[in-house]
Parts: sequence; C-alpha cells; structure tokens
Amino acid sequence: MEFEYAEALKRLPEQFFAKLVKTTQALMKEGHDVINLGQGNPDQPTPEFIVKELQEASENPKFHKYSPFQGYPFLKEAIADFYQKEYQVDIDPTTEVAILFGAKTGLVEISQCLLNENDKVLVPDPGYPDYMSGIALANASPIDMPLLKENSFLPDYQKITDADLNDSKLMFLNYPNNPTAATATKEFFDETIQIANKHHICVVHDFAYGAIGFDGNKPQSFLQSKGAKDVGVEVYTLSKTFNMAGWRVAFAVGNPSVIKALELIQDHYYVSIFGAIQKAAKTALDNGQVAIEELNEVYQRRRDAFLTNAEKIGWYGGTASGSFFVWMPTPKGFSSEQFAELLLERAHVVVAPGNGFGESGEGYVRIGLLDNEVRLQEACERIEKLRLFK
Ligand SMILES: Cc1ncc(COP(=O)(O)O)c(C=O)c1O
Repeated sequence: MEFEYAEALKRLPEQFFAKLVKTTQALMKEGHDVINLGQGNPDQPTPEFIVKELQEASENPKFHKYSPFQGYPFLKEAIADFYQKEYQVDIDPTTEVAILFGAKTGLVEISQCLLNENDKVLVPDPGYPDYMSGIALANASPIDMPLLKENSFLPDYQKITDADLNDSKLMFLNYPNNPTAATATKEFFDETIQIANKHHICVVHDFAYGAIGFDGNKPQSFLQSKGAKDVGVEVYTLSKTFNMAGWRVAFAVGNPSVIKALELIQDHYYVSIFGAIQKAAKTALDNGQVAIEELNEVYQRRRDAFLTNAEKIGWYGGTASGSFFVWMPTPKGFSSEQFAELLLERAHVVVAPGNGFGESGEGYVRIGLLDNEVRLQEACERIEKLRLFK
C-alpha cells in the first residue's frame, strides 16, 4: 500500500541540491578525485576536550534517564555565561534560553510556533533554504528581501513596501551570512529593531556562523543592539563553532514569549537532548575560547589561500567577511547552474550554484572552505585549465 501524504508535507519545497549531490557521488564512485566545496559540513573533528567530556558523562547513570523536558539548567546557565563573556549580553537562563536539536530544527519550529495560514514572512534572498521549510509547513507566504552586492548583501528596508512590512509577522536574518559570507553591522541591527517595533515583526537572527569572522572582526550579535530582546531571538549552534554538526545541539536566546513557544512545541515533539551531550555542550561553551580562536585561524588561512589562487587565475569579486564560505561571481556568459555543472564535470570541483538559495543568488556560486589550502589551490588550478577567466 502507498499512503497519501498530508497537505503540509506536500507543500515542502524540493531539495535543490539533491541533483548536485547525486552527480558528485556518481563521479566519486567512478573513482574520480572530486574536490567537494559544495556543502556546509565542517571537515574538522570536534575538539578533544569536548569529546572526552561526552565519554565521561555518558557513563553517568543520571544521564541514562529522560532528561528534564526543557533541558538541564546547567546548560542554560552556561549559555547565559557564554553570551555574557562573548557579547556582554545579559540573558536570564530561566526565561530567555531554549535548547534546540540543532539550529535547523529550531528555525523550522519558530514558523510553526508563530505563523498561521497565509501569514507573511520576510526572508533573505539568497538565504538558507530551511527557513522555507517551516514557512511551508505553516502554509504561510515568504516575501523575499534581496541581498545585493550594492547594499553589502544586507536587506534594504527602504525598498520593502509599507504594506509588506505591515503584513509580515516574522523576519529571518542571518549574519555572518550563508551563502554570501557577508557580515552585519550594529547600525544595521539597530535599524532592524526600529522596523520591527514599528511594524510589529518578530525577528529571528540565525547566528549559525557567529564564531567565524575574518580579519579580526568578531561578528556582531543581534542581541548586542538595544531593544533586541523586545523584538526577537537569536539562534546559535555548536555545529560550526565547535565542529559539532553531528551532535545536534543549539539554542535560541532572547524574547521570553518566543522562547516559551519553542519550549511548548518541543514539550510535545521530544524530551530534551541526551544529558551527556548537554554536559559536553556546557564544557564547550565554558572552555571553548582557544578552540574558537583556532577555528578562525584555520578558516582565515583557507579563505586567503582560495582568494589568492582565484585572483591568480583572474577570478575576482568574491566576498568573505565571515562564515566559512566565499561568494564568487560566475564568469561572463554563464548562469550559476551552468558554471557549477561545468566545474563539476570538467574540473571535478563541486561548488553550490547561487540560484539554489534564491533568485538573487543568480550570477554567483558558493565556495565552502571545507578542505585544506593545498586542495583549495588545486581547485583553482583545475578551474584555470578551463580558460574561463581572461
Ligand atoms: C545559516 C544556517 N543556519 C542553520 C544551519 C543549521 O545548523 P544546525 O547544524 O545547528 O542545524 C546551517 C547549517 O548549514 C546554516 O548554514
């Protein structure tokens, strides 16, 4: 028997990158040496002190039981301390923190928590595709906010109509940005708070790459702007900061009513994360300073290696202020998809076509700095042989 899916499931967007993954796997199976810069999966292992903590904690029978529904208070306190230490932001661990099964889950849940059918949501274009998943499940409608080079890949609020602003209930933002690698300023977040107050919009700032900023520029937290907690939340994940993508641990901090809604929905979906993982997450946040510095050094070296070698072959115009991506323009005469396909087939280099992140991503590809400098140089050398840049 085959059963009919619920309408909500049928609304879920297609996975744009599935085709790319399939072709990549086929080439690898044929034995080709593929340089994969197409995905966002950290290649480095989790720092040893965090793994050790998990090993020890996993032996503690206390953690073999159900965890408290909304997570252990020790993790919420560590999160509040981390925000104080990193961003000088006060967080009440009892009302302003929700523990999440990865940022992805939280970002989908927020739409389910706050949106009804036909509600409007402002989304970055290009943007992380999973914002659309929650919006589709809620049967709400996205309104694109183009991120253009001439506005430093920030949305231009002057270009959004008052009607759209008045109709919108929610706004997703993400800096350092996936895919454009742009970062935001405090002034931009201040302006966002003004707009949100005026039009009664809940802001969700996805700070997944919060730990990764180049040239000594530490990325700005949304919560560092006055009044941020009145209008929204910030979602932070350990996936990128501590190479813990497989562990599925993240959190939301900020507006107590949104935090309460997240905890309510999670009470119905799950019990909280394995206690030993919560313990290891606390250790990461308490003692992770050096690991974060090392992470930044690794990605900065890779970014510099990629950009230097791209320049050598005549490929200019990339952005890379934060995150572990570089956002590169396609050569004249190529769409994003055509260029990505050509690189895959003729150079065996995988990059993500920009239009997969939204219409305004056309004309760009996203390079993931997820292999070492030697491989990044080799990727450029292989691309040079295609003689696309004069
Ligand atoms: C912008 C952005 N937000 C959220 C996530 C998801 O993070 P997590 O591993 O915590 O689900 C990613 C992962 O690629 C991302 O790029």
